[in-house]
This record gives sequence, C-alpha cells and structure tokens, in this order.
Amino acid sequence: MSTDSTDGIDGHVTEEITVTVNGEAVTAEVEPRLKLSDFLRYECDLHGVRVGCEHGVCGACTVQQGGRTVKSCLSYAVQADGAEIETVEGLASEDGTLHPIQEAFHETHALQCGFCTSGFVMATKELLEENPDPSREEIETGLADNICRCTGYQNIYEAVERAAEAMED
Ligand code: FES
Ligand code: FES
Repeated sequence: MSTDSTDGIDGHVTEEITVTVNGEAVTAEVEPRLKLSDFLRYECDLHGVRVGCEHGVCGACTVQQGGRTVKSCLSYAVQADGAEIETVEGLASEDGTLHPIQEAFHETHALQCGFCTSGFVMATKELLEENPDPSREEIETGLADNICRCTGYQNIYEAVERAAEAMED
C-alpha cells in the first residue's frame, strides 16, 4: 500500500491499492472509508455485487476473498489491498458458459427479483467447496447468512442440491 496522499478525491486522503478481481489486477486510488462493496461496484463496474442492508445482515454483497466468503459491505477496500477477490461475474467461463451453480439457480427458478441471487451463489460456492454433498439441513445452515425476500427458499435449496449433483459428475 502506498503512503497517504491528499491529492485524491476532493482533497481527501487517499491510498493506492491493487486488488486482483476475478483474476485481473485492479489498481486504484481510494479513500480509506470506501467500502469494498462500493469499490467493486463503482471502481470495477461489478454490479452483481449488491448492497442491501450495508451492515452485514442480508448477504447480498457476498464475495470471496482469498477463497472464503466475506460480506463486502463490512470491510474497506484498503483492507483488500493485495488480496484476491472473486465476484459472481468471475464464475461463468469466458465463452459465457454458466457455472454449475448459476445453471442450477436458473434451472430451478431459484430467484424472482434476483437481488439476493449473486450473494446466494457465492455462499453456495463456499458451501459446496467445503461440503460437496450437503444434507438439506446443512444447506439451510450454510446459507443462513443470506436473506431472500421473494422465493421462500425452497427453490434455492433445490438449486444447491442440483448444483452439488452437477459438480459431482
Ligand atoms: S449489504 Fe452486506 S450484508 Fe447486506
Ligand atoms: S429473489 Fe428477490 S430477494 Fe431473493
């Protein structure tokens, strides 16, 4: 991390950070108060990172940092300096083929408004990386940090089961 400078936004103190986002290094001059979620949305144009509650409750802003899920509204961009971040935009293949989790959410209609979906997809990714064959109860526990207002959760749980099967093959 570079030293503070006062040349940044409106004369406020800024720091230069470099974050690897979905495999690409992004260097930016940011204010220390900039949330990681806002850095991803506004500096990186990754609008799949959703901001709902902004205090760690809804899970809409879930991304992976160093392979573990984090709620990006709860940390600052400067804290991600040097880190590897993966967002939902990093999951599909370059040719546009959806990740099996994305495909499963699509196939089971596990979304209505879709606002929560990227957070659920990223939480599911961590869940299945840790436990490739979770029971329904383990799925419910694994996704307990994510809130959906629309779907009643049943289709989301079915999507996780379908994704687990697909990723086993
Ligand atoms: S916006 Fe981060 S948990 Fe709700
Ligand atoms: S699909 Fe609308 S909040 Fe989850």
